[in-house]
Amino acid sequence: MNGFSPDWLALRETYDLAARNAQVLDTVANAFLGQAAISVVDLACGAGATLRAVGPHLPPRQSWRLVDNSLSLLARAFAPEHPPYVNVTTTPLDLARDLELALDGPLDLVTTSALLDLVSPEWLDRLVVEVAARRLPFYAALTYDDELVAGFNLHQRTDKGFGPALGPSAAARAAERFQRFGYALVQGRSDWVFGPDDRTIQDALFTGWAELGPLTTGLSADEIAGWLAQRRVHLAAGRSRLRVGHVDIFAQSIGTR
Ligand SMILES: C[S@@+](CC[C@H](N)C(=O)[O-])C[C@H]1O[C@@H](n2cnc3c(N)ncnc32)[C@H](O)[C@@H]1O
Repeated sequence: MNGFSPDWLALRETYDLAARNAQVLDTVANAFLGQAAISVVDLACGAGATLRAVGPHLPPRQSWRLVDNSLSLLARAFAPEHPPYVNVTTTPLDLARDLELALDGPLDLVTTSALLDLVSPEWLDRLVVEVAARRLPFYAALTYDDELVAGFNLHQRTDKGFGPALGPSAAARAAERFQRFGYALVQGRSDWVFGPDDRTIQDALFTGWAELGPLTTGLSADEIAGWLAQRRVHLAAGRSRLRVGHVDIFAQSIGTR
């Protein structure tokens, strides 16, 4: 399971939905209260999780432009049944190159989930400039924000196609940049909290971290294998709990609404 595989995105979707910060999501919903229709672009939509999570909180007539560079994920995002009055189009784009194209045309809201920690500072700044130039509201959920797992954080900063990635500093940088452009910010935590019964997702995370271990830690292959075996013993015994930090932000231009 890699970070963008359909299986991984499907596994994390329930946890992401539960983790979304309710106050931030309420603020998004309130920003469009009383509006009959809304046009949204979701950047790096994956299999469409943001539409499924946020759609129920928005005005009933919705038009969603789902953007990703993975054709197979876009096909999944388009395939499921959408409620009546929800119009979905999929746009295959490399956002590292063609971000501006994704934001073309009439829009009311820009959303993204689990993206900002993957991008470089330069790309994030470009995103903020492009969104602010259009005075659009911006909702970014589930940005990884954990200082605890140092090795994983090192991996978080490796290049994911957008230049060396920001990792855990992404949400703070986005908030600060939007404020400079006269945006009001609402932010809140959206941590994953896994209990002993959440074995599959914990196992997937531990396996992924162990695979990255040679790159991200000074540990030998044997030490990493030992660490993974120990984590699995705890999982099997129902003794494994894990918290992974995330942040949600909603940025809205002051005075536009
Ligand atoms: C961690 S996933 C999040 C997917 C989705 N937003 C969600 O919350 O389930 C990151 C997404 O970024 C997309 N992505 C990565 N690099 C991209 C690029 N250069 N252009 C467009 N999409 C990209 C991946 O295909 C993947 O769908």
